[in-house]
Amino acid sequence: MLHASLIAPSLLAGDHANLAASAQAVAQSGATWLHVDIMDGHFAPNLTFGPETAAALRRAGSKVFFDTHLMLAEPQKYIEAFAKAGANNISIHIEPTYDHRGTLARIRQLGCQCGIVVNPGTSAASIETLLSEVDLVLVMTVQPGFGGQPFRRDMLPKLRTIDGWRKARGLKFRLEVDGGIDLATAAECRAAGADTFVAGTSFFKADNKAAFTAGIAAL
Ligand code: DX5
Ligand code: ZN
Repeated sequence: MLHASLIAPSLLAGDHANLAASAQAVAQSGATWLHVDIMDGHFAPNLTFGPETAAALRRAGSKVFFDTHLMLAEPQKYIEAFAKAGANNISIHIEPTYDHRGTLARIRQLGCQCGIVVNPGTSAASIETLLSEVDLVLVMTVQPGFGGQPFRRDMLPKLRTIDGWRKARGLKFRLEVDGGIDLATAAECRAAGADTFVAGTSFFKADNKAAFTAGIAAL
């Protein structure tokens, strides 16, 4: 396997009245990534955080890798603000109409890694020509909007397809899954080629977060 398994606990499932403590719990578990879900009430039917949230977490001492998932109708308008706020990776969806390639390039210019995201109803083929331009591909395993939804097992073939292209082309992007991930569904995704696992509800519900993080890393 190319990449070791990595967990990205999702801040969405943390304590919104004390996000700094939630970010600290993530770091204390041994996780090195924090998944930050940004929704605008248009592309996804919910509202979450803004750039100031990320900046405030940095000021509060959070040093983990901010894996920033922009569920926005116009992500190109906000990438600079998130880069300045301390994002390490910025992932954008393929579904809205804007200059995807140009926006990915701009994310890199701003000093961040970049990712492309596909919703459950969007084909792998829709991102095929962008694979050489990204550090990460995120396959949504739920419809974006809310934590705690059931894992979409029908996304496993999409993972296999994208992992197959990655191998055939000698590419090195991470292959991430997001939605309904726990130790069991993460193992299924790992077998289908995923190496990066967003976990919201399952991580924050776990009594022993260090054991949970180690369990994902061992997949
Ligand atoms: C869903 C978000 C996810 C969410 C996952 O719209 O993109 O990152 O936090 O939550 P769980 O792990 O609870 O399914
Ligand atoms: Zn997400």
